[in-house]
Amino acid sequence: MKIIADRAKCAGHARCAAVSEELFELDESGYIAFDSKPVPPGMEALARRGTRACPERALMLDEEEAPGTAQNMS
Ligand code: F3S
Repeated sequence: MKIIADRAKCAGHARCAAVSEELFELDESGYIAFDSKPVPPGMEALARRGTRACPERALMLDEEEAPGTAQNMS
């Protein structure tokens, strides 16, 4: 899973960082500091909550498995 941030939409509400400062890192001006970022194992629920918390809808989740961990053996 990855967090995708649309930095052009971010207005600095910091509600994402209130859910998890570790996942939703802000820059020195209080805006989201990355374009995309992998979610460490076990932090998926926080990633979902923080993404939903953004009133500008600047955050999205890419639910795809990271390469190498996908279970499609077909
Ligand atoms: Fe920006 Fe939304 Fe977080 S506006 S600081 S991405 S809550």
